[in-house]
Amino acid sequence: MIRLVALAACGALLASSQSWAQTAAKPAATTAAPSAAQAVTPPVAKPDPIPVPDWLYPIPEDVLHPPKPPKEPPKPPKEPVKTAKDASKSAKDTAKVAETAPKPEAAKPVETPKPGETPKPGVPAKDAAKPDEGELLTVPDSTQKFTLARINDAFEAPDWHPESHGPMPDIVARGRKPKVMACAFCHTPTGQGRPENSALAGLPEAYIKEQLQDFRSGKRPALGPEKYAPTQAMHALSATLTDAEIDASAQYFSQQKLARRHYVIESINIPRAEEAAWVYKEVGGSEDLGDRLIEVAPDITRHEHRDDRMQYTAYVPPGSLFRGKLLATTGDKGKTQVCSTCHLAKLQGTDKIPPIAGRSPTYLLRQLLAFRNGERATEAAQQMIPTVEKLELDDMIALAAYVGSLYPPQ
Ligand code: HEC
Ligand code: HEC
Repeated sequence: MIRLVALAACGALLASSQSWAQTAAKPAATTAAPSAAQAVTPPVAKPDPIPVPDWLYPIPEDVLHPPKPPKEPPKPPKEPVKTAKDASKSAKDTAKVAETAPKPEAAKPVETPKPGETPKPGVPAKDAAKPDEGELLTVPDSTQKFTLARINDAFEAPDWHPESHGPMPDIVARGRKPKVMACAFCHTPTGQGRPENSALAGLPEAYIKEQLQDFRSGKRPALGPEKYAPTQAMHALSATLTDAEIDASAQYFSQQKLARRHYVIESINIPRAEEAAWVYKEVGGSEDLGDRLIEVAPDITRHEHRDDRMQYTAYVPPGSLFRGKLLATTGDKGKTQVCSTCHLAKLQGTDKIPPIAGRSPTYLLRQLLAFRNGERATEAAQQMIPTVEKLELDDMIALAAYVGSLYPPQ
């Protein structure tokens, strides 16, 4: 059940092999003795990339294995609907897929499978859902009401709590047709983010700008398999962002506050989880967690309605929190670096370094792997190499669990 890093990533790896060599020497000049000692030891072989596990990027069944003959002609869409097959096309096309891909899931009538019953993942929306399209929907604690079509409009992000933020720049609220979906559609209006993307609330303005410029130039690649539409879409839309749009969105999101959005639970056995809308939902029954980190939307309908106040549950193997704390706070005898050295005491970040406390464990794990495998290999990313180079997957799960379990510092 292991998928090797996608081809594109291999390219990035090659391109970054130089950077590994550079950074092996870097800590000697700047940081503490243990790293310096390491830098002089004869050429430390670059660690082999760690295979990216399938479970880290849950893909809808109908995108993964597109049905062969289309059973029915495509329904008349308001906006061009792409077939699942297109998901594997170029990154540019994928941007539009992401815009539409969650829709079949979202349009599904809400059915809670009875315990033990086998649900049918990724089954396209039934026509029975159609008559409900005019129905006004809401989420807990909101006074707003939107139709499903409005919720799924990637160029008019649903704003459930307009009182919780100042005016959104146009690019954030509505994006720019036809290529740039609204940032708030995926990242939510206050930048709380979702496990399949990233929290942006409270990231340093300079850091956001730099990441967007790096996405735009291709220095920071799309992570995950080609069929994982959210990361591909982020990458594709960034290609046409103007400097003014980058500045406006960076300034806006840096001023938002991250709320608690994730709970971490250690468990051997978990409620059986299946992919749903690029994350996981509980489907009744139970299964062994094994050595995975599985982040579940406890209420998949609220996830599909883009509720930015629902809290997700990340299941991790027993012992992860203790081990993660040990690694993060002591480095565990040189296995890694003490995170607070750079991310500060509450892991709240600086005016250049991003905060990490309380962010999605899924996102944290994806990034740790990306640094470790040389996919995130910009100059700034080199600073993370001494932290990740000796880590194994279970160490990274432990770190993601511990760091993600902390309350976001206010
Ligand atoms: C289709 C959904 C989608 C849209 C729309 C979107 N993003 Fe993203 N964004 C993502 C995903 C997914 C990631 C994580 C990428 C990764 O892990 O490689 C991401 C990552 C980011 C990051 C990096 C965060 C970090 O901590 O390093 C920034 C910054 C960002 N997005 C800004 C924006 C802005 C600004 C817009 C609007 C112009 C936008 N995004 C629109 C999905 C989206
Ligand atoms: C030597 C300084 C340094 C240390 C020590 C360090 N970090 Fe970082 N970290 C950074 C910098 C700088 C970045 C931003 C990299 C970039 O701009 O691409 C970063 C980024 C990250 C990110 C990506 C955040 C995002 O928004 O995408 C994660 C996750 C992370 N660090 C986790 C950790 C953990 C966990 C530890 C401790 C085990 C740690 N870091 C220790 C400097 C450090």
